[in-house]
Amino acid sequence: MAAEIKLQKVRKEFGKVVAVRDLDLVVRAGEFLVLLGPSGCGKTTTLRCIAGLERVNRGRVFIAGRDVTELPPARRGIAMVFQSYAVFPHMTVAKNIAFGLKMKHTPKEEITRRVQEVAELLQIAELLDRYPAQLSGGQRQRVAVARAIVMRPEVLLMDEPLSNLDALLRLQMRAELKRLHREIGTTTVYVTHDQVEALSLGDRIAVMRAGEIVQLDSPTQVYDQPATLFVAGFIGTPPMNFLTAQLQAREGGLGLKIGEFSLELPPAWQGKLGEDTERTLVLGIRAENIEVHAQPGEGRLPAEVVVAEPLGATQLLTVRVGDDILKVATDPDLPVQPGQRIGLSLVPEKIRLFDPDSEKALA
Ligand SMILES: Nc1ncnc2c1ncn2[C@@H]1O[C@H](COP(=O)(O)OP(=O)(O)OP(=O)(O)O)[C@@H](O)[C@H]1O
Ligand SMILES: [Mg+2]
Repeated sequence: MAAEIKLQKVRKEFGKVVAVRDLDLVVRAGEFLVLLGPSGCGKTTTLRCIAGLERVNRGRVFIAGRDVTELPPARRGIAMVFQSYAVFPHMTVAKNIAFGLKMKHTPKEEITRRVQEVAELLQIAELLDRYPAQLSGGQRQRVAVARAIVMRPEVLLMDEPLSNLDALLRLQMRAELKRLHREIGTTTVYVTHDQVEALSLGDRIAVMRAGEIVQLDSPTQVYDQPATLFVAGFIGTPPMNFLTAQLQAREGGLGLKIGEFSLELPPAWQGKLGEDTERTLVLGIRAENIEVHAQPGEGRLPAEVVVAEPLGATQLLTVRVGDDILKVATDPDLPVQPGQRIGLSLVPEKIRLFDPDSEKALA
């Protein structure tokens, strides 16, 4: 069972702090939606407004078409998993998972069956008789998730559920959560400030900043077509590179000037940059969309290597172009040294242009 969640102009203030600023959001039934953003941007508060753990100052919350704004958490058909997954230490895994069903006076045989089912789904069936202290972090985390989904909620809310795990376990649990969602199909809202986690898990990502959603798109769109400089600089390891560029009208098209270097813009940009064709823009390009040539040369953007980092599958170069510093991903075998002068080619189709004043992407 999956339900649509709709937030309508939801606002939450704590004294003078506006934690959630008139937020509009529709989470589709069965969708895995990630709320992503820096610390303090309002992710947890948004989740708590959906859960009913915070009273909104203004706006409405709908779950499955029902206005739940005034309803307590227990009557919203939701289940939550928090960062500090509080499992009861004095209860076995089985009793922990069964707890919510017992509170609802579910018949005993049904509890046993559902606990078994969920335990198998989360691959903890052989741990049912253990106590939380006898589990690893990842196993305890699974118990917390099992306890939430055994209730068959219409909506599953998770707030940084993996942040207490070590890096390897995080990777494993990430894949587990993805599989789990595919199997149960519950509408899920997942809060994280880890952009890799967001890209990996989300059907869509809502990027938040200062209580607002600045972009709501698929992971690919958020990565390839960031709507603002903030999103471009927040998503991706390394984040998108920025260069100062002068827009220029030329015969038969538009061009960009970066220092002394000139670049043709693909015809697709024609007519999309407005009337003012002589202005300063911010050019955005990702590390993997820059080609490196060991020598400068005709048609290449001149650069100087600052640092070369071998990262196994790639080599990450930090290079200087005029006053700008760029990160460039290149072949691990390309022989380059710090101080070396090189040439760069930018993949024209991958160039993003931003207005430096509004910080918004153009076209
Ligand atoms: N109970 C509270 N009382 C006062 N201010 C609060 C309260 N809860 C949150 N805030 C403030 O509201 C804003 C949003 O907080 P929130 O916890 O939603 O951020 P977050 O995006 O979840 O951050 P993080 O990634 O650090 O968890 C912050 O400025 C925070 O200080
Ligand atoms: Mg939080």
